[in-house]
Amino acid sequence: MGAKKSAEARIEELRRLIRHHDRKYYVENEPEISDFEYDRVLAELIRLEGEYPDLVAPDSPTQRVAGAPSEGFETVGHAVPMLSLDNTYSADELREFDVRTRRQLEDETVSYVVELKLDGVSVALSYENGLLTRGATRGDGRRGDDVTANIKTIRAIPLRLGGRDPHATVEVRGEVFMPRSGFDELNHRRERDGEAPFANPRNAAAGSLKLLDPSEVAKRPLSAFFYQIVEAEELGITTHHAAIVAIDDMGLRASPDAVVCDGIEEAIERCLEWQDARAKLDYDADGAVVKIDALEQQARLGATAKSPRWSIAYKFPAQTATTVVEDIVVQVGRTGKLTPVAVLEPVNVSGSTVARASLHNQDEVDRLDVRIGDTVTIEKGGEVIPKVVNVVRSKRKGRPRRFRMPKGCPVCGEPVVRLEDEVDLRCENVACAAQVKRSIEHFAARGAMDIEGLGSALVDLLVDTGLVSDYGDLFFLERERVVELPRMGERSTNNLLAAIEGSKERPFSRVLFALGIRHVGSRVADVLADRYPGIDDLRAADEDDLAETDEVGPVIAASVRAFLTSPRNERAIEKLAGAGVRMKARRTRARRKRPLAGMAVVLTGTLEGMSRNEAEAAIERLGGRVTASVSGKTDLVVVGDDPGSKHRKAVDLGVKTIDVKGLRRLLKS
Ligand code: IVH
Repeated sequence: MGAKKSAEARIEELRRLIRHHDRKYYVENEPEISDFEYDRVLAELIRLEGEYPDLVAPDSPTQRVAGAPSEGFETVGHAVPMLSLDNTYSADELREFDVRTRRQLEDETVSYVVELKLDGVSVALSYENGLLTRGATRGDGRRGDDVTANIKTIRAIPLRLGGRDPHATVEVRGEVFMPRSGFDELNHRRERDGEAPFANPRNAAAGSLKLLDPSEVAKRPLSAFFYQIVEAEELGITTHHAAIVAIDDMGLRASPDAVVCDGIEEAIERCLEWQDARAKLDYDADGAVVKIDALEQQARLGATAKSPRWSIAYKFPAQTATTVVEDIVVQVGRTGKLTPVAVLEPVNVSGSTVARASLHNQDEVDRLDVRIGDTVTIEKGGEVIPKVVNVVRSKRKGRPRRFRMPKGCPVCGEPVVRLEDEVDLRCENVACAAQVKRSIEHFAARGAMDIEGLGSALVDLLVDTGLVSDYGDLFFLERERVVELPRMGERSTNNLLAAIEGSKERPFSRVLFALGIRHVGSRVADVLADRYPGIDDLRAADEDDLAETDEVGPVIAASVRAFLTSPRNERAIEKLAGAGVRMKARRTRARRKRPLAGMAVVLTGTLEGMSRNEAEAAIERLGGRVTASVSGKTDLVVVGDDPGSKHRKAVDLGVKTIDVKGLRRLLKS
C-alpha cells in the first residue's frame, strides 16, 4: 500500500512537471530543460504507469497517443456554427467596414483588436470540467469531423485546463497549423522516403489532421493558436481581448500579439505592420483580422449566414516570384473544358512550391503572349491557384514559337468545339477518359459522396485498368481485382470498399451534386432535391418547369435536361440506383415527432446531469437549433442552475423558458 501511495504521489508530480514543461516549450516557446531531461521525466512516468495501470488517467501526458487507428471520423455538429470571415484587400475597405459597423451601433465608440489570420485548419475544442473531451474540424461550419484522438497528440493543446478555472466547461476555437520549420523538415523526410511532398504548410496540417492513425499524427509537427471562447459572456468575459487573455490563462496558445486599437486608423496601421513582418514569422499568415473588442457590441451586430458583422479579414497582397515556363500543356476537366497550363520550373512563393499555373484559355495566353521558355512573374494569393501575371520580355531568348490550343482533345483525340459566346474550348466526347476520370473524382470528393481514400491517383488507376468506366461502376468493383492493383493491398482495399459502401447513405441532394451536372453546385442541388424529391421527379420535369425553381434559371435548367437525357448518364444513374444509392429524398425526420422543429434554442446555466454537448445534441435531435444569445428571434431558453444574464433577458423579452426536467420530458415524449 505504502509503495503504491508513494508511486501515486510521484506520478502526480511527474504529470505536473510534464504539463509545466509542455507549456514552456510548446505554448510559450521558452523551454527550461533539455529534450533529454524531458524524455527522462516522461520515461519515468511511463514506467510507473506501467507498474500501476489503474493509476493511468485520461489526461495523463502518456495518453496523447492512446487512440487506436480508426476507419473514419464521426461527424459531429457545431451547436454554434463556425463561420468564416469577409475579406478586404485595402485600407479603404477597412474604413468602409468601420463606417458600416459604427452606423449599426448608432455611432458608439468602438475599440478593435487586430490579430494575425493564420493559414491552417480551424478546429473547435470542448473541455468538460477541465478535461479535453472533443476536438472537431470546421467541416461545412455546421458539422465537422470528430478528430479528438488526433487533436490530443498536439502538445500545444493541454489535455486538462490550467489557470484560474481548472474545471471549466468551455468550447475554444482556433487554428491548427504546421510551423514552417517543421514543414520543411517533414517534406525533407518525405522526399527522402520517396513520398510526395506537401505543397504548403496548410495542406500538410490539413492532411495530418485527417490521418486515421493518431500515432502517425503524433509524428507531425503540428501546433495550434486559439482566438475564440464560445459564449465567453457566460464566463463573465466582456471583451475579445479578455477572452484572449483567458485562453492564455487556461494554458492554451492564444492568438499572438493581439492588440487593442482605438479606432480604425490604428487598426489599419497594425494590419500594415503585420504585413511587413509576416515573412519573419515561423508560420503562414495570409492576413490580419480586425475584430470589435466589446462582446456586447459583437452580439448586437450579429452575423450573416456566412460571417460575423463584427469582424473582417484584411488579406495580405499576393506574393510573387519569377520562374521559367518549361512547357505549356492542355488539361481536360470534368466538363470537357480544355485549359492550358504552364509547367514551371518549381519555385517557392511565400513558403510553398509552385510548379504549375493556369493560363485559363487561348485569349489569356495571347494577352500575356507567353511562350515556352519564357521567364514569367507568377502570383499566389491565398486560396487561388497561382497565376501568370506577366512575361519578363527582356529575358526572352530567340523567337520561341507561339502556343496554339489543339484542334483535337489531347486525351481522346476527338475534335474540340468552341461554343458561341464562350472563350473556352470543350471536348464533347462524354466517354473521354479525362472527363470520365475527373467526374469520378468529383463524385467521390468531400461534399459530394465523400468516399475517403478515392483520390485522383486511384481514380486514374481504376479507369486506366478498365475496372470502372463511370461512377456507377464503383459500386460493382470486385474485391479480387482491386487487391491486385499496385499499392492497394488488403487493408486499403477493405477501406476503399467500405467507404464506397458507406457512401450509399448520402442523402439524395448530395448524390445529385455528385453526379457532376454542369452548373449544379451543392446549393443548387439542395434546392432541386427540395422541389424534386427523387430522380424520377427530376427526369419528369421539362426545362420550363425546372427553370421555375428558385435560384434555377434557364441555363441550369437546360444543363440539367441535357445531362439527364444523355444515354451515357442514364446508364450511370441506373447503376447507382441498382446499387442502392439514394435516388430519393428520405421522408424527412420532420415527419417524425420533433417538438422543437425549426426553433432557435438558447442554453444557460449548468444543466444537471447533462453536459453541454449532450444537451445540444438532444436539442438538435428534437429538431431545434442551438444559438448563442437571446434575442427577439429566440423561441426557447433552457435554464439550468446559476443561469446568467440570458435568463433575465429571456424573461424581459417574454421568451418561453423550460428547465432541465422540461427538456428531459421532451426527450421522452
Ligand atoms: S475569427 C466567427 N480569427 O480564418 C469567425 N479566424 O474565414 C471566427 N482564422 O474559419 C473567425 N486566424 O479558420 C478568426 N485570428 C483569427 C483567425 C481566423 C485564422 C481562420 C478561421 C476562419 C477563417 C475565416
